[in-house]
Amino acid sequence: MIMSKLLEQIDKDKIPVHVAIIMDGNGRWAKKQQKDRLFGHNRGAQSVMHVVEASADLGVGYLTLYAFSTENWGRPQSEIKGLMSLLGKFLKSEAQKLYKNNIRLHTIGDIGTLPLPLQKAIQDVKKKTECNTRLHLIIALSYGSRAEIVQATKLIANEVKQGHLDMAQIDESLFAQYLETADFPDPDLLIRTSGEQRVSNFLLYQISYSELYFTNIEWPDFSKDDYYRALISFQTRKRTCGKI
Ligand code: IPE
Ligand code: IPE
Ligand code: MG
Repeated sequence: MIMSKLLEQIDKDKIPVHVAIIMDGNGRWAKKQQKDRLFGHNRGAQSVMHVVEASADLGVGYLTLYAFSTENWGRPQSEIKGLMSLLGKFLKSEAQKLYKNNIRLHTIGDIGTLPLPLQKAIQDVKKKTECNTRLHLIIALSYGSRAEIVQATKLIANEVKQGHLDMAQIDESLFAQYLETADFPDPDLLIRTSGEQRVSNFLLYQISYSELYFTNIEWPDFSKDDYYRALISFQTRKRTCGKI
């Protein structure tokens, strides 16, 4: 196998612990080849496996993928239906690969709003991979960061009301413990494909000090080399986190 020139440029001692990706541009990619949007989503599933494999190989610890936002429920029913069935099929077909490669599946988002067969597929793969430790693959599904923050606030308010928590105990790290990402470190690197430069309600609290990387490549075309480019860019950044 020919080793990628870009892969050789990556400093293996400076791999981000957590990479988050807004996988965007499936629809536009499909339209360019006169195909329907679902064709683009289908192709996008291949890019998912490329970044999962590359992340596991490089030693990225956490990979969070934005697959469906709370706002995406506003899309035409036919697209939503197609996407949900694609997600279910994808989980079933890749479950064995995740298991064998020591990858653990997690989700964030309101899983209870998803069609039952998809909920079942998610539960099955989570259960099957629950002892895996090499890479934590976190899929954001029916996820919205504002809803997550509001929910955390309600949970904390209830704890105070019940007398389990004192107002004085509420600080940034306690708040983070009530977010769905409580078990994961904050992303070091946030990638968005397809040329859009916005965060679209993704991990608003958690990306306060993430490095942002935008590329014009649409998600179905996003290759391992494109991922390596993002990692190389990340490794050139000077992260001061407010200090000097
Ligand atoms: C991202 O691609 C996938 C999802 C949001 C599910 P889009 O479907 O947003 O594709 P564009 O942005 O319309 O090209
Ligand atoms: C963000 O992409 C959501 C996902 C990638 C799942 P969208 O295409 O839905 O976001 P906007 O409409 O460009 O903000
Ligand atoms: Mg989009």
